[in-house]
Formats: sequence, C-alpha cells, structure tokens
Amino acid sequence: MDKIEIEGGVMLEGEISISGAKNAALPVMAASILSSGENRIFNVPDLRDIMTMGKLLAHLGLGFHKEGNEVILDSNTVDSVEAPYDFVKTMRASVLVLGPLLARTGRAKVSLPGGCAIGARPINLHIMGLEKMGAEIKLYEGYIEARAEKLKGTKIYFDIPTVTGTENLMMAATLAEGETVLENTACEPEIVDLANALISMGADIQGAGTGEIKIKGVSSLRPLNYKVIPDRIETGTFMTVAAITGGHITIRECNTEHVEAIANKLRSTGVKISGDGDSLSVDGPDRPVSQDVRTMPHPGFPTDMQAQFMALMTIADGTSLITENIFENRFMHVAEMKRLGADITIEGATAKVKGVKSLKGAPVMATDLRASASLIVAGLGAYGTTIIDRVYHLDRGYERIEEKLKLLGARIRRIR
Ligand code: EPZ
Repeated sequence: MDKIEIEGGVMLEGEISISGAKNAALPVMAASILSSGENRIFNVPDLRDIMTMGKLLAHLGLGFHKEGNEVILDSNTVDSVEAPYDFVKTMRASVLVLGPLLARTGRAKVSLPGGCAIGARPINLHIMGLEKMGAEIKLYEGYIEARAEKLKGTKIYFDIPTVTGTENLMMAATLAEGETVLENTACEPEIVDLANALISMGADIQGAGTGEIKIKGVSSLRPLNYKVIPDRIETGTFMTVAAITGGHITIRECNTEHVEAIANKLRSTGVKISGDGDSLSVDGPDRPVSQDVRTMPHPGFPTDMQAQFMALMTIADGTSLITENIFENRFMHVAEMKRLGADITIEGATAKVKGVKSLKGAPVMATDLRASASLIVAGLGAYGTTIIDRVYHLDRGYERIEEKLKLLGARIRRIR
C-alpha cells in the first residue's frame, strides 16, 4: 500500500499549474450518454476516479479512450443500463449515470452507493426528482431499478442543495418532454460547467449557478467537444500549502472567481493573495492568525476545503472554531492531526482548534480524499518526518501532487 514521506518545515516557493476539475469532468463524462457520436472532453485530470468513470461508461457500451488529458467517448451504442455495485462502491459519482441512462434509454439499474467515510450520503433527492418526472423507481437487492417511457418536465424543489442531485436531474431533463424547473439547486461552479457542456450539445438550459435552473427538453443532443474548468479545490489546497510553509507560490491555470470564499478566509488569517483571471500569487505569513469558519454550499466556504483549512489553523496564533455543516462525519482527519501535536477538541459539528507553535512529524493514516490532502498540508508544515499511509485516497483527486510539490521545493517522496 503506497505511503508518502514528507520532511516538513521547508518554505515552499515557485510556480505550479492547476489540473482540470475532477468534480466537473465526472458529470460531463456521464453527459456523453445523452448523445450518439464521438464525444471529446479536454483538460480532464489523470485520476483514478476518471478511469473508474471511463470503465463504467465502457461497461455500458460506450467506447472509452484517454490520451493525456483528453477523453474520447463513443456513445453510438448503449448496450447495458446496469451500473454494478463494484463500480459504485469505489466511486459514488457513478450514480451520475442514472439520469442520463433514463433520458437516453428509458431504463436504468444503478447500485445504491452505500455510505462512505464522511457520511451516509443518501440519494433520496435524486430519486424524488426522477419520480416527479414520471420515472417508476423501485429499490431492490441494493439496486435502484428505474423505468420511464418518456420523462416529463415538471417543477422539482430540493430541500437540500445537492450537487450530484442537481446534476442528475439537469441531465435527465435535457431530453424530457416540456420544461423542468429545478428549485433550491446547488450553485457550485461544476454545476455551471455541466450546464455549459450540455448547452454546447444543444440543450436549452437557463439559470445554472443561480439556485433556480430551467431546462426545456429537446429531441436530441449532439456529441460533446468541451474543455472542463480548473479544479478549485486543488487551487485552495495549494493556497494552504503556501500559507502553512510561509512560502511564496504562483498558481497558474486556475479560475480566481471560483476560489473567492477560500481566498477571503485565508486573507483574514494573514495570507497575502493577489491576482485575477487564471493566476494567483500567494504569500504565507510567518504565523497565521486563527479564524473561525463554517462550511456552506457554494458560494460559501466549501466543505472540500475544511480539512485543509484546519491543518493551517493547527499552528495559528489563537483558537479557531471550524464547523462542518454539510456532512455528518467529516472530522476523520482530527485524530491524525493530533498525532502531529495539534490541539483539537470536537463538540458536535464544531472542532475547536487551539493553535500550537509547531507540529511534529509522525506516521499518520489517510481516511478519505480531502483528509489525505489535509495531512499533506500538515506534514509540509510540521518539523521532522511525516509518513502518510493509505494514500490511494489522495490519488483519487490530485493529479501528480508529489511532482507539483517537488517543483516548489518540498522534500516529499512516495514509498512503495
Ligand atoms: C459532491 O458530492 C462532491 N462530489 C463532493 O466532493 C462534495 O463534498 C459535495 O458535493 C458537497 O459540495 C462530486 O461532485 C463528485 P451533495 P455529493 O449531494 O453530490 C445531502 C470530493 O472530495 N443529500 O451536494 O454527493 C448529503 O448527505 C467529494 O471531491 C441528501 O440528504 O454531495 C449532504 O449532507 C467529497 N440527499 C448534502 O446533501 C440526497 O439525495 C450535500 O450533499 C443528496 C444529498
């Protein structure tokens, strides 16, 4: 099992480029089911989850091919409508084939994703929306079995803004009869990117990113030829790397508009951040000042940055209250950070982080994707050697992270 060894306490300096967004590429790949032809998607990061989605689409009958950061999907034939448990259990985002399969073929059999380290993560809202559009859905032996002669447009209200729920319903609605209005939707940049990709295929969609999305069904969609947005969470992660090492990093090929909440929060801790368009320069302070944060749906502070921000606050001057409002169990990294000498107590959904002068390297274990990123951040800021076990979590969401960190002067290596 791969481990990563870090000699921390080094000020990182230099320039890195951000990869394409995993959470934009995954739904855009699933959208290829809605067309018949050759789909080309660009700026796709080289990640395990991307390969898992590619293999799932191939299992459904699409031709999947990846050349560097370009994905080619031949969607002329869909000869299976079943997304088996083996795929879904390794990647919950597999559930994103549900809406497109129903829209394209009128049938879908998708394994229920089950829970994951950070929470129960039900998909009841995905199912509620599809039923409102006329799908007959039954849950049988751990699978969602769905049928719909023709999905019908209707008004759907999400009582919680769900990212993949919004994406599933938006895709399903593109080929439905009539207009679908999605209310209280998620507004993440990945939702807007998927809407733009669908519009480039000929879909009629308005309002993505505003909380209310109107989709007028069309008879067919043409294949994709689309470049996905940069990864805002990778961008935020590298911003915290500069912050915790007191370093000076230039971040290229990012989207500064997508990281405003992260940048504002880091500025309030004393981090200097400037830049616009597609590049940022980030200068870390000698010692960050403690700041409270509450994770919220976009445009609030993203839950996917909570663990990385906590790593920074462990060495801040003062006490920070970090409240996780999105998932019920997203503090798995706390116990590992305490092994590095952090002073954190959890009270319900809030972690109280009392800043210490410095962390001390130690062996730790990754439990999920963003927890593993936070341990990299903490290890880079800690004095001595940190060894992170179970880094396969990291490989799901960060393209060539050791390479990029080495470019900045980090003393980091993977131990097979
Ligand atoms: C997406 O997950 C992201 N994954 C997650 O990123 C991200 O943390 C999350 O959105 C929140 O921003 C992808 O885009 C592939 P949700 P998703 O549905 O869609 C509840 C990462 O690190 N809910 O927006 O699964 C749910 O339990 C991953 O890259 C229901 O109750 O999240 C949660 O409390 C981790 N019923 C809240 O809504 C539903 O039917 C938000 O979940 C759906 C969701």
